[in-house]
Amino acid sequence: MSFDSTWFRCPNCLLALPAVDELTLGCATGHRFDVSRHGTVTLLPPRAPRTIGDSRDMLDARRSLLDSGLFRPIAEAIVESGSARSGSRAPHRVADLGCGTGYYAARLAEAVPATVLAADRSPIAVRLATRSIPRSTGVVLDLWQPLPIRDGAADIVLNVFAPRNPPEFARVLSAAGRLVVTVPTPSHLRELRQAGALLDIPDGKADRVIAQFAAVGLSLQRSTSVEYGSSADAAVQAQLAGMGPSAHHAAALGSSGGPGGGVTASHAITVTISVDVLVFGHGDAIA
Ligand SMILES: C[S@@+](CC[C@H](N)C(=O)[O-])C[C@H]1O[C@@H](n2cnc3c(N)ncnc32)[C@H](O)[C@@H]1O
Repeated sequence: MSFDSTWFRCPNCLLALPAVDELTLGCATGHRFDVSRHGTVTLLPPRAPRTIGDSRDMLDARRSLLDSGLFRPIAEAIVESGSARSGSRAPHRVADLGCGTGYYAARLAEAVPATVLAADRSPIAVRLATRSIPRSTGVVLDLWQPLPIRDGAADIVLNVFAPRNPPEFARVLSAAGRLVVTVPTPSHLRELRQAGALLDIPDGKADRVIAQFAAVGLSLQRSTSVEYGSSADAAVQAQLAGMGPSAHHAAALGSSGGPGGGVTASHAITVTISVDVLVFGHGDAIA
C-alpha cells in the first residue's frame, strides 16, 4: 500500500493530519480517521451533504469508454498541458480532483515522475483510481466543501469534467504550480444531445470558468481546443450516455430511455468530441 499523509489537513478543524500509526491519521485536536487497506481515507467535514458521486454503473461505463481510447486525444492534451511547466519538485505532486476512474492522472503519471492524490466523492471511484495509478493516495472528499488538502500541496491540479471549487483550488495549488481544467464545449457529443440522450451544455462555459478562476487570482496561462469526430456504435453511445451527469438526471426521472430521457441509435454514428483544456497559474495571464 502506498499512502502519503502529507497531502492532508483535518476536515473538522483544518489542522495538519499526520499518520499517528500505520492505519490512522490524527490531528492535534484529537480527530481520528482510518486508512483503508486499499490506501484510501474518507475526509468529509461534519454534517457533509449526502452527495454520493458517481455510481458503480456510471464508473463501469466510463472505464469501458476510456479503455476504448475514444478520449485519448483529450488525455494527450491534458498531459501536454500538465507537464509543460510544473514547478521544481520531483516527483511532481499531482492532485486529480474529481478523479473518476483516474484515467487522466494515470496518463500524466506515465509521462512525468509523479505522486498522485486521487480525490472524489465516490468511494468506488477513489478505489478504482488508486488501483490504476502507481504511488497514489486516495481520498473521499466533497469538492463543494473546504478541502482536506494542505495549502500549496499540489504542483499540478487536474480537474476534468468535474465540479470546481475555485478558492480551494487556488489554495492547494503551489506557487509555481499549474491547474489544468477540462470543460466540454456546446459541440461536445452534440449528436447525442440532439437525440435527447444527454443534457445540453450552455454556451460560454469556458469563459465563465476563466472568470471564476480570475476572481481568485488564478490567471489563464494557456488554452487548447481539442475537437474531432469518431465513430460510435450502439454500445459506445450507451457508455457515453451512461457515464456522465445526465445519468443522474435520468435516474431521478426514472427514465427508461437514454440518460437525458432520449434514446441512442442502434447503428454506428459519428460523434463530435469537443473540449477546451484550460491551464491556470498564480502568475501573469497570457498576453
Ligand atoms: C463526469 S465525472 C469525471 C471523472 C473523471 N475526471 C474523468 O473525466 O474521467 C465527475 C466526477 O466528479 C465526482 N463528483 C461529483 N460531485 C462531487 C463532489 N461534490 N465532490 C467530489 N467529487 C464529485 C463524481 O463522482 C465523478 O467521478
